[in-house]
Amino acid sequence: MSVRGSALRLPYALRRMEESDIPAVMEIEQSAYEFPWTEGIFRDCIRAGYCCRVVQRNDTTIIAYAVMSLGAGEAHILNLCVAPPWQQQGYGRALMSDMMDLARRLQADTLFLEVRPSNVAARALYDRLGFNELATRGGYYPSRQGREDALILARPL
Ligand SMILES: CC(C)(COP(=O)(O)OP(=O)(O)OC[C@H]1O[C@@H](n2cnc3c(N)ncnc32)[C@H](O)[C@@H]1OP(=O)(O)O)[C@@H](O)C(=O)NCCC(=O)NCCS
Repeated sequence: MSVRGSALRLPYALRRMEESDIPAVMEIEQSAYEFPWTEGIFRDCIRAGYCCRVVQRNDTTIIAYAVMSLGAGEAHILNLCVAPPWQQQGYGRALMSDMMDLARRLQADTLFLEVRPSNVAARALYDRLGFNELATRGGYYPSRQGREDALILARPL
């Protein structure tokens, strides 16, 4: 099932990520992150039944995606990414709002995620959407300097 992007009425459809989407997703992943996920991680997330969604523009081009796990009333955003040419046009906010709606429909009451303290864009997005900082996980991410902490954020749904 696909739904129209809700938050800002952007011209996009949100649909399940299929294994056949992984090459297009990987192209974005590698252009957006310094330490990208591998194809195998996306495949495992799809096979594990996580909520894996892609954002398609009218012409069927994938421009963003998100991966979320759910369990025991908690949802966890594991990946949320907008292709660089489409960033800062509202798609991240719209996709995150749609993932929050999806988590609510699946009975989650809290949404968690981790973010690098250095990720200015993501921190701005999560701040705008009302996430609160819960804790710091030391040395969670690889970085050029060795490791970087993760901020753990949460938001009631
Ligand atoms: C983080 C990311 C998803 C944001 O998506 P986006 O589509 O560019 O964000 P939006 O256009 O919806 O902007 C959402 C808010 O964040 C702010 N924002 C976005 N990029 C920003 C930047 N580079 N600097 C400062 N603020 C920024 C916007 O101003 C907006 O706030 P506003 O509505 O008050 O104006 C996108 O930058 C991305 O995919 N980055 C690479 C992958 C990544 O880091 N994912 C997050 C992992 S935790």
